[in-house]
Amino acid sequence: MQPYDRIAGQWVRFRPALRAEELALFDRWLDGLPTGAAVLDLGCGTGRPIAELLDKRGFGVTGIDHSTAMLDQARQAVPGANWCQAELDAPLAQPFAAAVCWDAIFHLERARHAVVFREVWRGLSPGGRFLFTTGGSAQPPFTDTMFGREFFYDAPAPAETLALVQAAGFAVLTDVMLELPRGGREKGRMAVLAEKPAT
Ligand SMILES: C[S@@+](CC[C@H](N)C(=O)[O-])C[C@H]1O[C@@H](n2cnc3c(N)ncnc32)[C@H](O)[C@@H]1O
Repeated sequence: MQPYDRIAGQWVRFRPALRAEELALFDRWLDGLPTGAAVLDLGCGTGRPIAELLDKRGFGVTGIDHSTAMLDQARQAVPGANWCQAELDAPLAQPFAAAVCWDAIFHLERARHAVVFREVWRGLSPGGRFLFTTGGSAQPPFTDTMFGREFFYDAPAPAETLALVQAAGFAVLTDVMLELPRGGREKGRMAVLAEKPAT
């Protein structure tokens, strides 16, 4: 059983909608993508709100997650998408025009983040854009509780994440601190929009 299997029922009810600042990043990420383009939602959770938004905008959505219960919810929310059970850093079987990994990579040990960046780079078509969030400050690995359950978090410092993304072959288009590190539980959250160069 994966950690999110235990809270899928709560998550589906309490996952907040994307904020305006987040939606602006999604709009930039998807700008110019043709209808029907294959888009990857890595760490898709219950499919709401992200896969649902992509499906409504006419993209061909593939969602990947390792949680059976989260994927069960996603299948109900967006029946027309392609749902796969796999680890975030598993090799991708098909090319994608764009990929998102929203609020998921920080559940992996930091040594695996570079693997995710490399695999997403390999799975993207030239010119494809990758949007993701990660931790927003330098921290040792830690756990925190959500819905009464303990979850593991890890991420390198923001500058190190950007260096890893570039080392994988991406050009960083923008990085934004969505939540500032204020101390205690508030360790910050950074969004990064990166692009696989067209040539
Ligand atoms: C905080 S939720 C975010 C879900 C969705 N992206 C969203 O924004 O609502 C994190 C998701 O990442 C998935 N996840 C965490 N670690 C994973 C791993 N190693 N491989 C695949 N999925 C993982 C969890 O099962 C969960 O569905």
